Amino acid sequence: MINLILCGGCGTRLWPVSRTLMPKQFAKLFNGSSLFQGTVVTNSVACESQYVISNAEQYFLAKDQLSELSESGHNPHFMLEPVGRNTAPAIALACLTLDPNTVVLVSPSDHVIRKKDAYLKVLEKAKKLAESGYLVTFGITPTSPETGYGYIEADGENVKRFVEKPNLEKAKEYLASGNFYWNSGIFCFKVSTFLTELEKYAPDMFVACKSALTSAKRENELLRVQYDDMMEIPANSIDYAVMEKSNQVKVVPSDIGWSDLGSFDALYNEYPHDEAGNNVNPKHLPVGTKNSMVIGQQRLVATIDLDKMLVVDTPDALLVAPLSSSQKVKKVVESLKLKH
Ligand code: GDD
Ligand code: MG
Repeated sequence: MINLILCGGCGTRLWPVSRTLMPKQFAKLFNGSSLFQGTVVTNSVACESQYVISNAEQYFLAKDQLSELSESGHNPHFMLEPVGRNTAPAIALACLTLDPNTVVLVSPSDHVIRKKDAYLKVLEKAKKLAESGYLVTFGITPTSPETGYGYIEADGENVKRFVEKPNLEKAKEYLASGNFYWNSGIFCFKVSTFLTELEKYAPDMFVACKSALTSAKRENELLRVQYDDMMEIPANSIDYAVMEKSNQVKVVPSDIGWSDLGSFDALYNEYPHDEAGNNVNPKHLPVGTKNSMVIGQQRLVATIDLDKMLVVDTPDALLVAPLSSSQKVKKVVESLKLKH
């Protein structure tokens, strides 16, 4: 099984930690290793090789971080995109260069998986289903009406429907019904299964990806797609383009200690706390502050009487917000893009 690692997203909900040149999957937040590195290590137990699909700007970052890993043998293929067109084209471009019978494990690079043994068992199940011609998703039992995830309505392993990023009202309904999983964003399938479904449901994308590969530049293990060709590819995620539409989808329930670290409130929950409920950070001096997260590794940050607050201190930008509003960071990034 080959691990297709998607790492071309820019992770705007973690601004200012996550930037164009240092997206969150490569940022070393608290413990000295990045989520990208964690992904490679976690999946290498089940996958014999890696295929990294990333933005051309992140090539050296990815290569350096791979070489930092102590395990030898990480010598992946790279597909470099001059500009991201979301996950469906990224996966399609890689799949179109592989043998149709290859089983791939598509993994995002912005997650953690804590229960490694359970994950390995789930992967074995998924691989068998993939070999039988299914698009396999990994279902996480939901704990809140999160609107940033895909939802999978299931009857055992069978998928009744897949709904990407529902509104809050729908998300509440799905949570209450008890028949829905969150989509983890990890997928397992045979290359031929995915390409058949893509051609059926997103034919323009399929054709544009094929054509982009005819003029892609090969440099040893690296394939560089040209800008003009990339811009011809319609942008869409695998979730909207294929998963919502296909009836070849299966779900493997996955109690794997999964956490999407896509926003600051997720990071707050994931990393260790002191007795006042603040994340442990030697650079934070709390006075009466509780239940808060301060990220910043350069200078001391003192806070007084804060509760459930977020402070992110970086050399050129400072973010202060209630932790509960951290999903709105995307809006900051949008307005910055408009101004510059
Ligand atoms: N190469 C490449 N090119 N990678 C990309 C691109 C791109 O254009 N866009 C996103 N990625 C990478 C991101 O870096 C991330 O690792 C992964 O693909 C998923 O993209 P996100 O943008 O983070 O997706 P999402 O979080 O909104 O939604 C997905 O994940 C959720 C779980 O975290 C969906 O699959 C949801 O259904 C799912 O619940
Ligand atoms: Mg994500």
